[in-house]
Amino acid sequence: MQPDLLPDIALHRARRERVIEKMGKGVMILATAPEVIRNRDAHFPYRYDSHFHYLTAFPEPEAVLVLIAGDADKNPPKHILFCREKDMEREIWDGFRFGPEEARDVYRFDATFAFDKLDEELPKLLENQPSLHYAIGFDAAWDARMLSWLNVVRAKGRSGVSAPATLLDARAIIDEMRLFKDAHELALMQRAADISAAGHLAVQRNCKPGMGEWEIEAELLYHFRKGGCQAPAYTSIVAGGANACVLHYIANDQPLRDGDLLLIDAAGEYQGYAADITRSFPVNGRFSAPQRDIYEIVLAAQLAAIDAVKPGNTWNTPHDTALRVLTQGLRDLKLLDGELDGLIEQEAYKPFYMHKTGHWLGRDVHDVGEYKINNEWRALQTGMTLTVEPGLYIRPSEEVPKAFWNIGIRIEDDVAVTENGHHVLTAAAPKSIADIEEVMRHATR
Ligand code: GLY
Ligand code: MN
Ligand code: MN
Repeated sequence: MQPDLLPDIALHRARRERVIEKMGKGVMILATAPEVIRNRDAHFPYRYDSHFHYLTAFPEPEAVLVLIAGDADKNPPKHILFCREKDMEREIWDGFRFGPEEARDVYRFDATFAFDKLDEELPKLLENQPSLHYAIGFDAAWDARMLSWLNVVRAKGRSGVSAPATLLDARAIIDEMRLFKDAHELALMQRAADISAAGHLAVQRNCKPGMGEWEIEAELLYHFRKGGCQAPAYTSIVAGGANACVLHYIANDQPLRDGDLLLIDAAGEYQGYAADITRSFPVNGRFSAPQRDIYEIVLAAQLAAIDAVKPGNTWNTPHDTALRVLTQGLRDLKLLDGELDGLIEQEAYKPFYMHKTGHWLGRDVHDVGEYKINNEWRALQTGMTLTVEPGLYIRPSEEVPKAFWNIGIRIEDDVAVTENGHHVLTAAAPKSIADIEEVMRHATR
């Protein structure tokens, strides 16, 4: 393992203690993600479950966390892990496994059991517990197992054993904790952002007409992995020309043409934390006049929206801010006609801007956390991290001058809310027209 990848185990134990505090009583059961077959007997690269890893740092599949809140004096809280047994034969083929004993010591659990013992041990851990927290409905197979364990406990009713009477969604507690990033998490996110921004800078340097979208994707993946990311945070979008107007374009199999723009939405994941960056730039290094017109509007909207990221504003303030700038820009270019407030109210911008201006960012690229509380957009607070990603996508249409057809532009940065405002994690990826053209003038091939 790279030395700076060693997880802070005490921090993870402290997170579990906070979960227990919030539970108050009862038991929480949280399984990590299963391995997934890609075809026949070949797997997708393994990725642990974000909630499970946030609380354990334990990287192996076939593992389950059990937290028992206990009660005041007689029954102290208990942190329990089920994990795979050591298995020399499997370790020769697939690599090291901790096994329950070493996992207990390294990852600071009070007790550990073999994963194979789940059916035997788990019902015992549910006995006489008032409530059970788990990710209800997340995985049908786990729902079935959980209910079968509850039934085992219920069947003991006549011997005076009670089963949990209350089922709660474990995510209600953990989502809210994950929404607020601590200093350790912010440092990991900054690293993911730095590596990803360096990848964007590198492909801006190297891009030229005649290359394929797939070549740019390959270079991005090279830089993410070489920089130390374990994986891309999501499937890269490398969209030349009209492809940029397909929001989830991932085929990345078309040639890049002189005169077209290239929209790249790609980033790496570092130690479980995602970056999420979009840049749009001309394949040949020089913006045409219509491309410049649209780009300046999107950039102005993005800068204004980033400025609106600060404590005191709500989740939706950056989106509302971006909408005003985008709609005004579309009016200035005569792509929309009417009074500004009316156009915003009627959502006249929707044919050109059909998505929201951002989302929470963290372990999941679309991270957990509520956006509204009591039906009101929630206040932005220190430690929250989000993307700011306005765009304009101009599809061919009789109502639009041909010069603008197939221009698709999105500019996306990752932003942390700080005490006094915000910090842009991804500022190292060039985005002003002057900076992009300057970088591309010094093309390395
Ligand atoms: N890359 C996914 C997103 O921007 O939401
Ligand atoms: Mn995003
Ligand atoms: Mn993105």
